[in-house]
Amino acid sequence: MNWGMKNRISRIIKPKTGRCVMLAVDHGYFQGPTTGLSRLGETVEPLLPYADALMITRGAIRNWIDPAADIPIILRVSGGISILKELSNEVITTCIEDAIRINASAITCSVYVGGEFEKETIENLSKLVDEGEKYGIPVLAVTAVGKEMARDARYLGLASRICVEIGAHIIKTYYTEDFGKVVEACGNVPVVIAGGKKLPELEALQMAFDAVSNGANGVDMGRNIFQSDRPVGMIKAVRAIVHDNKPVDEAFEIYKSS
Ligand code: R5P
Repeated sequence: MNWGMKNRISRIIKPKTGRCVMLAVDHGYFQGPTTGLSRLGETVEPLLPYADALMITRGAIRNWIDPAADIPIILRVSGGISILKELSNEVITTCIEDAIRINASAITCSVYVGGEFEKETIENLSKLVDEGEKYGIPVLAVTAVGKEMARDARYLGLASRICVEIGAHIIKTYYTEDFGKVVEACGNVPVVIAGGKKLPELEALQMAFDAVSNGANGVDMGRNIFQSDRPVGMIKAVRAIVHDNKPVDEAFEIYKSS
């Protein structure tokens, strides 16, 4: 791995703990104005001091994020679909030159193993890895799950391992029972979990705790943070679990008291 690649990964996954709290706000690329993200800038601004990285599209960053913000960017570069159509029919929407102009610390696309356009999404990932390797920009692969696919260790392990084999530098997947098997399938490639749909705060914190206890390097969480009644409290609580190994009850107190 070249110096630039290592340096960019270190900006995201903090060397002190080997962990990270990514804040995902890229939902609009296929969901439109998702609850909590209509005024994206107002939602994100108070959360930035507690996030290690921001997962976002180029349009959102140019509209709502101050270029002076001191936050590593994980740039969502796939899309071309909406919630109204087949989700796996993604294309690459942003070229590597634009990712470099934005000073992205990583680029990301979704891979739909088992989806109608499985091959095309794997091809998207492989092209991004080739481009990323050229310029020292890591690629985070999102193991997206189609409507009819089970989110179990067998499926997520299959999808994650395929992304590893294609060359992804970070894997984003979902927490599931037997999560250790998913992590094992990824070898030395760091794994983070998505939060998924909004859960009660205690359950979301328990999921983050279970994920890092079973080998995840952290979270790439969106709705369970920005749709919470206390988004700042929630990201602080997630941080306490991910970076400080706090138990769930202590983290929940942090959420409640913020
Ligand atoms: C989905 O493909 C997007 O990358 C989201 O950013 C991702 O699912 C994480 O957000 P959430 O924690 O809301 O699931």
